Amino acid sequence: MPTLGFGTLIPDAAETITATRDALEAGFRHFDCAERYRNEREVGIALEAGTASQGISRDEIFVTTKLWNTNHRAERVEPAFEASLDRLRIKYLDLYLIHTPFAFQPGDDPYPRDQDGNVIYDREVTLLDTWRAMETLVDHGKCRAIGLSDIGLDELKLLHESARIKPAVVQVESHPYLPETELLEFCKRHEIVFLAFAPLGHGMKPGLLEDPVIAAIATRVGKTPAQVLLAWAVQRGTAVLTTPRSVTRARENFDISPLSEDALGEINRIQTRRRLNSVVQTGVPGFIPQASSKGSAA
Ligand SMILES: NC(=O)c1ccc[n+]([C@@H]2O[C@H](COP(=O)([O-])OP(=O)(O)OC[C@H]3O[C@@H](n4cnc5c(N)ncnc54)[C@H](OP(=O)(O)O)[C@@H]3O)[C@@H](O)[C@H]2O)c1
Repeated sequence: MPTLGFGTLIPDAAETITATRDALEAGFRHFDCAERYRNEREVGIALEAGTASQGISRDEIFVTTKLWNTNHRAERVEPAFEASLDRLRIKYLDLYLIHTPFAFQPGDDPYPRDQDGNVIYDREVTLLDTWRAMETLVDHGKCRAIGLSDIGLDELKLLHESARIKPAVVQVESHPYLPETELLEFCKRHEIVFLAFAPLGHGMKPGLLEDPVIAAIATRVGKTPAQVLLAWAVQRGTAVLTTPRSVTRARENFDISPLSEDALGEINRIQTRRRLNSVVQTGVPGFIPQASSKGSAA
């Protein structure tokens, strides 16, 4: 899996197409998608056109997508997987993730709620049931690897013990304000790729991009704060997702270079702790960017 991935959580359809095409052109070969982002069709269009015009073959790109919470029941997994493949215009998936460990009431509403506004969870299916159905997809040969997203260490340990096919990747929020060191150590010990999202703190302001330690290192080494944050993530042994929405930022985020041990140490000593996404506790994403306003919660 290419270490630097392009995340496709982009609310606007037209922007999804241009940003995905620009990312491909800037050198990104790893594309992170999800049924929940409701733009797999646009990503598929951009990848099909971009790979054809640049002479890039299917096996040179790495495509991930995710099973949404309302599709956790075993009989819903394969249809959801096939629908994603169809929308993405590809014949196999490199990686399929369970988007969150929370099962919601099955159906077409992605956020089923009761009359008091509480999410309706599905208590009839366990994470292991869903995992078994994911394993079957690998057996059938249309999915090369499976993994989990928004999972905590305790639940990961339990699933890892019972899994016939071990999780290949764990995708979680991680940045200098949320280093998730214990989870990272577990992943390294078990050869699971730790894939960090929100490496730039979702670009929220004030936030990581203006952190004084990050800004000072960026000035010193002649890089941007975004490049410093991405380099830190890669050097500590994680893969990373970022969502540049312009060609300039796509090139910037792809062009990172190693930091000195001193700089890494300075970042590791940052004391601020902040989780931006409560999805790991509820299954409901705490942050979905809106087309018109940056940083609003959903
Ligand atoms: N599993 C999950 O639950 C989950 C949750 C969230 C995200 N994800 C995945 O992770 C991907 C990454 O998303 P993220 O929000 O976490 O990414 P991020 O890179 O931390 O934040 C993206 C934001 O950073 C800004 N940005 C990007 N490059 C920049 C640069 N060079 N300088 C300054 N600002 C920059 C963007 O601003 P502009 O828009 O102005 O370019 C955008 O608003 C998503 O697309 C998705 O695939 C997964």
